[in-house]
Amino acid sequence: MGPVLCVVGARPNFMKMAPILRALAAHEPTMPSLLVHTGQHYDADMNDQLFAGLGLPRPDVNLEVGSGSHAIQTAEVMRRFEPVLDANRPSCVLVVGDVNSTLACTLVAVKKGVPVAHVEAGLRSFDRSMPEEINRVLTDQIADLLYTTERAAHDNLAREGVESARAQFVGNVMIDSLHANRKLAIPPEETLRHAGIDPAAFDVTQGYGVVTLHRPSNVDTEDALGPLLAVLREVSERLPLLFALHPRTRANIERFGLGAQVSGKRIAVLPPQGYLEMLGLMSSATLVLTDSGGMQEETTALGVPCLTLRENTERPITIEQGTNTLVGRDGGAITRAVDEILAGKGKRGRVPEFWDGRAAERIVAHLADWLARRHSQVGA
Ligand code: UD1
Repeated sequence: MGPVLCVVGARPNFMKMAPILRALAAHEPTMPSLLVHTGQHYDADMNDQLFAGLGLPRPDVNLEVGSGSHAIQTAEVMRRFEPVLDANRPSCVLVVGDVNSTLACTLVAVKKGVPVAHVEAGLRSFDRSMPEEINRVLTDQIADLLYTTERAAHDNLAREGVESARAQFVGNVMIDSLHANRKLAIPPEETLRHAGIDPAAFDVTQGYGVVTLHRPSNVDTEDALGPLLAVLREVSERLPLLFALHPRTRANIERFGLGAQVSGKRIAVLPPQGYLEMLGLMSSATLVLTDSGGMQEETTALGVPCLTLRENTERPITIEQGTNTLVGRDGGAITRAVDEILAGKGKRGRVPEFWDGRAAERIVAHLADWLARRHSQVGA
């Protein structure tokens, strides 16, 4: 049987793939794997420091596609992925998450008759203006195996006509990474020092908020980004903020001339952070303000209140059971929610079923079985 060809493309894929690669290697008998990076994210601070922090091996292949419009990026991944698939004859392709690389590689593999396993399947925001939602819906329609993080995902898949036999509830691999690395998390003081900020002047022991923003709907227009930054400024008067800037957001802040909104004593701007740095920042935070998908889950696992700056979430369990609250971009809702948390009334939440650090193990056990059965049936 050929190797399990594992695909990563962008930052949120890395923490999902690391535990899967470890579980493939630990399986008896070992399941050989091949790591393909599409190169969707390429900057050192979007890549190298995450690979290092997560203990990910160097990719066997890097397709180096880089940035572009959705069409160009997706097409370029497809074009460059096809010969890699032909040359390596994998037993299956394993994709994670919902980025353009996820869909692009799934399309190529499925059309060549190579089975695809999708990890983090079935999540839906029901907002088709989000590029990720299109990637999710299409990937789940055509992938052979759908591994889910929460039970609501199965209802979403059933509603779209996906046969239930394709879907398996296994839990959350992102939380596997969190469990594996919690003890290695880098203290916030060290991260500040590294960014050239004096931890004494920006005293994190008195509490702080962590901010990340990168969704096109929040950062690509001045109408959305301007008011959001103004609210963050208001929040910073109550609680100092550490703002880790995604390159998309940094570029737009410059383009719209909004730099003054994110300067001053109470907002510290940091470059994109490594995994262990971000884990350290989140673990000790008073609250997190974000539009990230993964951080909604990580804060739920850490028991830290999270205010999600979106109108919807594809991860409803973080609201129903965890510490997440949707606040959108409404200034009043955001400051009210911050005040509640500061008054000690933040959500405590509980950790959802199977977010226990063993999701990758469950995936690999199921996949090994499925591949063995398929092999004996079709001699594939
Ligand atoms: C992508 C994913 C999104 C994920 C996010 C995490 C899709 C559709 N979107 O969005 O789901 O949450 O990654 O970061 O796949 N850039 C750099 N350096 C890099 C990468 C990007 O400067 O290493 C800049 C480029 O100007 C690029 C822009 O960021 O045009 C956006 O990058 P892109 O990969 O298109 O989308 P993200 O916004 O990162």
